[in-house]
Amino acid sequence: MISTQTLSVSNGCNLACTYCWYETGAAEYPHAALTLDDYADWFRRCAEKEPLTRLILTGGEPMLREDLPELLRIGHSYFPEVLLLTNGLLLTRRPDFVGELSRMGTRVHVSLDHVSPSIDDRVRGGTKGALVGLNALAAAHVETQVTLVLTAKNYSDLPYVIGYCRQHDFDLEVNPVAVPPTHPLSLTTLGGAERDLLVAELRAAKQMLGRPEYYFRVIRYLQGSPIRPLTACRAVEAGVFIEADGNIQLCGQRREDVLGNIRTSAISEVVDRRNAVLQAHSAGPCVSLDCLTVA
Ligand SMILES: C[S@@+](CC[C@H](N)C(=O)[O-])C[C@H]1O[C@@H](n2cnc3c(N)ncnc32)[C@H](O)[C@@H]1O
Ligand code: SF4
Repeated sequence: MISTQTLSVSNGCNLACTYCWYETGAAEYPHAALTLDDYADWFRRCAEKEPLTRLILTGGEPMLREDLPELLRIGHSYFPEVLLLTNGLLLTRRPDFVGELSRMGTRVHVSLDHVSPSIDDRVRGGTKGALVGLNALAAAHVETQVTLVLTAKNYSDLPYVIGYCRQHDFDLEVNPVAVPPTHPLSLTTLGGAERDLLVAELRAAKQMLGRPEYYFRVIRYLQGSPIRPLTACRAVEAGVFIEADGNIQLCGQRREDVLGNIRTSAISEVVDRRNAVLQAHSAGPCVSLDCLTVA
């Protein structure tokens, strides 16, 4: 259960995407309280307990941490698979950082919601900067995925994003925006013809999209199938989520159950608390399609 870990390494961000579910403070807290030694010590103790498989570094914006290159190096020394989730704006800030990602074998997911200048960039922001970062990743042959949040404002750009990803050999993940149905960005406002077009585009892009079962559900969702919360929380499958202050949670959306802190808790305590919380819990009030059943 600790073999897969998602670390929010900075709770600040240099963007303020209007749909963001992370409570970012506009670069208010760019420096995470945890040190490299805190992380290295935690990884070492975890590795003594069970083989580690996958590390995901996210935020807020993880690249706000000045020492991110060192943190990545430490991560690679314990986990065979390391993923960096970023808005891409700071990828080219340091000379050769992208080259280092390539040499270390870090997989990078860059959030990008559209490529056409005609789409309003105020929903997410930073599109030009993200494209600069993505182009640098392509040039350095870093294994890259574009992660797109599909909303009522950018859905018409999907074919152009697909074309851009094909051109650069990027994978693509398309996530319906996770907001309540009454939110102005919600896809519930789209008509049948628009949804049919999106389904056709996703089907045509099938070979670029990972998670086949997930895409099957995205397509059924776009086709209007009713959705309802899961009866049991899926966080059980997802390892642990570690906040920038070291608190350990079931997932990034559920902050009410703290399982411990990486600086102070024994691994066995964390595992015991996680099992107890999972047994006591049904699903939370999540709006992400990952946490909903599509009939
Ligand atoms: C919280 S961000 C953190 C990493 C980085 N700042 C970034 O934007 O990629 C991780 C991912 O969550 C997505 N995200 C945030 N709020 C969302 C929402 N309401 N619905 C769907 N995806 C969302 C972002 O677009 C991004 O792809
Ligand atoms: S860049 Fe990422 S963390 Fe920052 S506001 Fe946007 S989605 Fe949220």
